[in-house]
Amino acid sequence: MVRTILSGSSKYVHSAIREEDDFADELRRQGKRVVKLSSGDPALYHPTPKYIVDAYVQALTEGRTSYSRSQGVVELVDAIVERYRSRYGVSMREEDVIVTSGVAEALTFMNSALIDPGDTVLILKPYYTQYPVAIQMFGGKFLLGAYDESDGWSIDLDGLARLVDRRKTGSKRIKYLLITNPNNPTGTVVPRRALKEVVELANEHRILLVSDEIYDEVVFTGASFTSVCELAKGMPYMVLNGASKAFDATGFRIGYVVAPESDRTSEELKRKLADYCRVRLCANTPAQYAVASAMGNRAEHERTVRAMVRAIESAVATAMKTLSENPYVSAVRPNGAFYIFPKIDLKSLKFKDDRDFVHALLEEKLVQTTRGSGFGAPGHFRIVSLAPDEVMEDCVGRVNEFCKEHAR
Ligand SMILES: Cc1ncc(COP(=O)(O)O)c(C=O)c1O
Repeated sequence: MVRTILSGSSKYVHSAIREEDDFADELRRQGKRVVKLSSGDPALYHPTPKYIVDAYVQALTEGRTSYSRSQGVVELVDAIVERYRSRYGVSMREEDVIVTSGVAEALTFMNSALIDPGDTVLILKPYYTQYPVAIQMFGGKFLLGAYDESDGWSIDLDGLARLVDRRKTGSKRIKYLLITNPNNPTGTVVPRRALKEVVELANEHRILLVSDEIYDEVVFTGASFTSVCELAKGMPYMVLNGASKAFDATGFRIGYVVAPESDRTSEELKRKLADYCRVRLCANTPAQYAVASAMGNRAEHERTVRAMVRAIESAVATAMKTLSENPYVSAVRPNGAFYIFPKIDLKSLKFKDDRDFVHALLEEKLVQTTRGSGFGAPGHFRIVSLAPDEVMEDCVGRVNEFCKEHAR
C-alpha cells in the first residue's frame, strides 16, 4: 500500500470557486474567449480607483516596504476605528482591531485559534465556500442552519433557534456562530429585525458570534444594512471585513477583524489573534498604507463606491431580466453583494447535477460560473454579476440557449 505524505485534514482543502480555472485556461489556449463569471473580484471589471492606486505608489515611493506592526500599521488601525465610529457609531480602541491578509487569513487564524478536533461551528447554508474548509482544516465539524429560498433566502430563524438549543438537539457546545451579511452566494442583506434575533440567540446561549461583513457597502436601492456591532452589546462577537470589496482592492490582500467588547472571551481571542499575526510577521505593508489613506479620503471613497455599486445593481437587474426568460431556472432577486444564485430545474434538463451543468456550460458556451454544491446548495449555480450590462445580457442569454439545447 502506498502511504500518503499528506495530513488527514488536508483532504478538505479545495476551492469549488476555482476548480474550473484550469479548464478555462485550457480553452483560452485553444483560442476561445471564456467569460469569467465565477470570481467575486470587482477589480476584474472595475479597476481599483486611481486615488487608492496612487496611495499605494506613494507608500512605495516613501519607502514603506519593510515589515510592519504585526496587527496592522497604526495609520490603518486608526482609520478602521474611525470607519466604525462614523458608519456604525461604535467606539473601539486600537487593540480591538487586527489587520490580516484578507478575510481569508482571518478565517484561518480564527479557526486555528478556536477549534480543537471534534469542535462544532454553526454556519448557514448556502455558505461561502471557504468556511467549511477553514473549519475542517483544524478538525472541526459544522452544523448547518439555513437561508430559506422559498422565503427570499431569509434566515430560517426557527431552525437556528433549534440548533443553538442543545437541550433540544443534544449537540455539543457550539464554538461560534458564523453569519455572512450581505451573503455570498445569495446576495441577501439580513433585515435589522432578523439580525437582532440572531444576536439575541447567540447572547442567550452564550455563543461567540462572528459576522463576515465584507460586502457591507455593496447594498442595493431599497435595502438597508445593519452591522452586528450596532446590535451586539455586552456579548462576545467579532466582525470580519476588509478592503477587497468596498475598496475594490482584492489583490491588495487587506482584511481585518474588529472585536470591540472587553469580556474575557473577546480579550483572550484578540490577544491570541495578535500572536498569530506576529508569527506570520505582517500583512502587505504598502497596501496597508494605501488602504489607510483610502479610508481617510471619504469624499473620493463615497464617489467611487457609489458608482461601482450602481453599476453592479444594473448588471444584476439586466442578468435577472434575461434569466426570467428561462423556464429551466429560477432565482431570488439579490439585494446586495455581486451574486445571483439560481436554482436549476435538473428534472427538465439532461444533466446529472450542478457540477455537470456548470462544466458543460463552460465547455459549450464559454461562460464560467460556479456549482452550487460548493456553497452547500446542490442543484444551484452562482453567477457573478460584475461585468457590464451588455456582457451580462449576452452571457445569461447563452445560459438560456444552453438550457434549451439540453432540455429533456
Ligand atoms: C463572504 C466572503 N468572505 C471572505 C471573502 C474573502 O475575502 P478577502 O479577499 O478579504 O480574503 C470573500 C471573497 O469572495 C467572501 O465572499
